[in-house]
Amino acid sequence: MKVAYPIIDGYGRVLINTGVVLTPGYIERLRKLRYQTIYIVNSKYKDLNSTPTVSFQLRQRALDTLGKAFSITSETFPGNVLTIVNEVKDIAQEIVLELAEKKNLLIDILDIRNTDNYTLFHSLNIAILAAAVGIELAMTNDKLVDLVAGALLHDIGKVKIPPEILNKPGPLDDDEWTIMKKHPLLGVELIGGRADINPEALYPILQHHEKDHGNGYPQRIPGNYIHPYAKITAVCDIYDAMTSNRVYKPAYPPQEVFEYISSLGGNELDYKTVQIFTRIIAAYPVGTMVRLSTGEAGYVIKNYKGLPARPLVLVTHVNNRKVTPYEADLARNLDVVITGPVSEIDLIKENLAEFV
Ligand SMILES: [Fe+2]
Repeated sequence: MKVAYPIIDGYGRVLINTGVVLTPGYIERLRKLRYQTIYIVNSKYKDLNSTPTVSFQLRQRALDTLGKAFSITSETFPGNVLTIVNEVKDIAQEIVLELAEKKNLLIDILDIRNTDNYTLFHSLNIAILAAAVGIELAMTNDKLVDLVAGALLHDIGKVKIPPEILNKPGPLDDDEWTIMKKHPLLGVELIGGRADINPEALYPILQHHEKDHGNGYPQRIPGNYIHPYAKITAVCDIYDAMTSNRVYKPAYPPQEVFEYISSLGGNELDYKTVQIFTRIIAAYPVGTMVRLSTGEAGYVIKNYKGLPARPLVLVTHVNNRKVTPYEADLARNLDVVITGPVSEIDLIKENLAEFV
């Protein structure tokens, strides 16, 4: 089993490079570092070899820049804040350019990450998702850059939250929550007025925890007062948080999060934004093993934009028996539906063994 794309840490440093054979030792080490997903070369089923949403080089630079941004303190020299935020805007522009080049952009899996430096990975993932939503909405380049820069910095106020509250493994008590809920305002205080940034790019920072029904924070404003950039950031924030492993909880499967987010539209989240979001994200990402209503089971090998639950599936099993792989296109055969991900551990083990 070979690594298909470099595995990097939260500071953009390469841990394992492309082409390296994954030994049991490497796998154990990656497990200890709590890596959730990595790209491997699949020589048996070449269709399962998907490419990352943004290039490795850009990811590396983005994480490096975010590392600097999340080191800003009240004492940081204003000139340095200006430089760092300009770097963030450059990264935002590059994310927009890379994603805009992709026709019919549909996001399968965000990318490799681990639970260390969660904030940096999470901020980058949200920015990529927000860019995809903005592109789907046909926003102009300038607006996209403001949206993505704001999304990259949405949690910047957390640098002013005491680490013992920020990194507490258990639930926060009432007093700790009161402090935690200040991070949107603290973020705007930290950046606003000290950086050359369009005021609209501050809305994702200020309003990403506001809710459509008006019960969010910090200002408890209803949907019609929430800026569209903040509405987009809020949807992307919940999606990425739920699909991530955390110290206190494992990741939820993408298809469950997809359904959950859909159910929040018009309630906690803006209905129209959720509609757009569910067009750009795959309910069953490439590589997911699914069971079909016909008794067939196999891997999702391609998703179609706008048809979240009707992917192209490479059938590998029928009634739990291995068969010569063949394709089942759910976009063409509307009588067949996905009944759920395959959970039988034996079936998964059997298939994983073939990849080694
Ligand atoms: Fe936040």
